[in-house]
Amino acid sequence: MVLFLPLNFTFFMSTYKEVKKVTTHTVQEMKLRGEKISMLTAYDFSMAKILDAAKVDVLLVGDSASNVMHGHETTLPITLDEMISHAAAVIRAVDRALVVVDLPFGSYQGNSKEALNSAIRIMKEAEAHAVKLEGGSEVVESIRRILTAGIPVMGHLGLTPQSIYKFGTYEVRARQEAEAAKLLEDARLLEEAGCFALVLEKIPSKLAKDVAEMVKIPVIGIGAGPDVDGQVLVSHDMLGINKDFSPKFLRRYLNLYDEIKNAVERYVEDVKSVDFPNQKEQY
Ligand code: KIV
Repeated sequence: MVLFLPLNFTFFMSTYKEVKKVTTHTVQEMKLRGEKISMLTAYDFSMAKILDAAKVDVLLVGDSASNVMHGHETTLPITLDEMISHAAAVIRAVDRALVVVDLPFGSYQGNSKEALNSAIRIMKEAEAHAVKLEGGSEVVESIRRILTAGIPVMGHLGLTPQSIYKFGTYEVRARQEAEAAKLLEDARLLEEAGCFALVLEKIPSKLAKDVAEMVKIPVIGIGAGPDVDGQVLVSHDMLGINKDFSPKFLRRYLNLYDEIKNAVERYVEDVKSVDFPNQKEQY
């Protein structure tokens, strides 16, 4: 019998390599052999356990926890202590994934010594594997200093939500030539400084493709098109737990908000009607 498999599946199987533990080197090798990197956010033990079992390559303890877990309007208010607490819970759940933790706003900008101290706290107290921080030339001194301690750093360019009050909107970045040129320059600078990977958020696909071709380190996109080395989404968005956020780049795999709400409504009904607990559900 002749089996016809879709071309992209055949390509996936030929580049896919089973990995026991994902490291910064693993993701760099994935780029070299053309295997795409999957990355999702995780902020707590239970969710991280599921995502790790599903073999997500990289778990990002993103400062989007500020919005998703703490209900703030922006990512700015979350503290280093809060990030460490989320990161420690995720680390306790994970066997396989590489866990990268965001340095929160105010813990690294403009002071490389403080940046190093913040990164050391994340590595020591949460036992994380790497840190991520936002920005290019403005923060490169902090990145260099963190790297002197042997802490792997992931960069983040394009839409950098910690600078929302400078940008004024969450619109696509680097559409104009000057901003695109600065982004290319920053990507080169971060690679030279020693970042092991780079996130590009909400920029034109063509520009993201140019960056991914220009640098040797893996480029992971969110709203940056398909021609990068991997993709990242906020788990709560792709699972449909959060219904209020629907950017064009988001693919929803579930509608968990409605699923959970329906289940909880049934539970409330069962409690009120004394249907729960029944004979079998008691001692
Ligand atoms: O904090 C976060 O969730 C992020 C991703 C959007 C890349 O930085």
